[in-house]
Amino acid sequence: MAKILVTGATGNIGRATLQHLLKRLPASDLVGLARDPAKANDLAAAGIQIRQGDYFDHDGLVRAFEGVEKLMLVSATAFTDRNTQHNNAISAARQAGIKHIVYMPIIHDVESAFILPDITEQDLFVEEQLKASGLAYTLVRHPPFIESIPFYIGGNPLETGVHAPAGAGKAGYASRDDLAEAHAIVLSEEGHAGKNYTLYGDAALSFADIAKIMSDISGKTVPYVAGTDEDYVDHLIAAGLPEPAARFALGWMQGINAGEWGGKAGDLERLIGRKPMPADEFLRTHYGASQA
Ligand SMILES: NC(=O)c1ccc[n+]([C@@H]2O[C@H](COP(=O)([O-])OP(=O)(O)OC[C@H]3O[C@@H](n4cnc5c(N)ncnc54)[C@H](OP(=O)(O)O)[C@@H]3O)[C@@H](O)[C@H]2O)c1
Repeated sequence: MAKILVTGATGNIGRATLQHLLKRLPASDLVGLARDPAKANDLAAAGIQIRQGDYFDHDGLVRAFEGVEKLMLVSATAFTDRNTQHNNAISAARQAGIKHIVYMPIIHDVESAFILPDITEQDLFVEEQLKASGLAYTLVRHPPFIESIPFYIGGNPLETGVHAPAGAGKAGYASRDDLAEAHAIVLSEEGHAGKNYTLYGDAALSFADIAKIMSDISGKTVPYVAGTDEDYVDHLIAAGLPEPAARFALGWMQGINAGEWGGKAGDLERLIGRKPMPADEFLRTHYGASQA
C-alpha cells in the first residue's frame, strides 16, 4: 500500500497518531518525520521508517515526502513563524506528489471575530494554501486539549482554587489520544477527502464546573476564583509561568469565555466509535495522584 507520513513524530500528537496507525496498518506503510530521528527510536523499533525533516527546509521536506501518498501535517508550534513552515510543507507535498493532506486547525467558526494570537489566522492561511494547492485534504479541527487545562489554570488549584478571568464560557476539551485515534482513522480509511471534522470531546465544561470536579477529587471545597484578565495573568506568573506564556494562556481563556469552543460534540465520537475521554477523568488522574 502507498505510504502515510505523519510529521511531528517526536511530539505528543504525531507519536500517538503513528501508534494508533500501527494498530490498523502494517508498519511498512508508515513513515514518521522528525527533526532529530534519534528521538523517535521507539517508533523505529516498532518498524516505522523515520525520515529526517524540518519544516523550515523545503528541499529536505521534498526528499522526505518521496513515495508518500497521504500526509498528516501536525500544526507547527505557536510563535515560530508558522506560515513559513506550513507553506513549505504544503508546497513540498505537492512537489513530492503527495495526494492527500490531513491538517489539524484549532476549531474556529468562520463567523467568529475572535483571534487567538499566532493560531487562528495562521490556521486560516493553511486552509487557503490547501484550497489553492489542488490536493485532496481533510480538516480535523481540534478543540483545546484536555491536557492543556493545568496550563490554563496554573499552579496547584487544589490548594489555591481554580483561577480564571470572569466569564461563563465552556469548552469541549478532547484528549490528545482520542484526537490521534481520529487522525489514524481518517488516514487509514477511504472516504475522508474533502471532509471537515469538528473534534469536540465530551460535554463542554466551564471553569466553575472544573472547580466542582476538583472539590470532588480533593474532598474539600476548591473555589472558582474569577478575576480580571490582569488578576489571572498575575496568578499564572506567581505560579511560575513566564509573562508571554501567561498572556498566551489568557488568549485561550478569552476564547473559551467568548464561546469559541463551546460547540456541539459528535464527529469525534462518530469517528472513534466510542465516547471520548471526559475531562473529569483526566482531572481525576492528573490531580488525584497529587492527593495520594
Ligand atoms: N489544541 C490545543 O489545545 C493545542 C495545545 C497546544 C498545541 N497545539 C498544537 O498542536 C501541535 C501538536 O501538539 P503536541 O502536543 O503534539 O506538540 P509537541 O509535543 O510539542 O510536538 C510538536 C512536534 O512538532 C515538531 N516540530 C517542531 N518544530 C518543527 C519543525 N521546524 N520542523 C519539523 N517538526 C517540528 C516537534 O519536533 P521536536 O521534537 O524536534 O521539537 C514535535 O515532534 C502543536 O505544535 C500546536 O500547533 C494545540
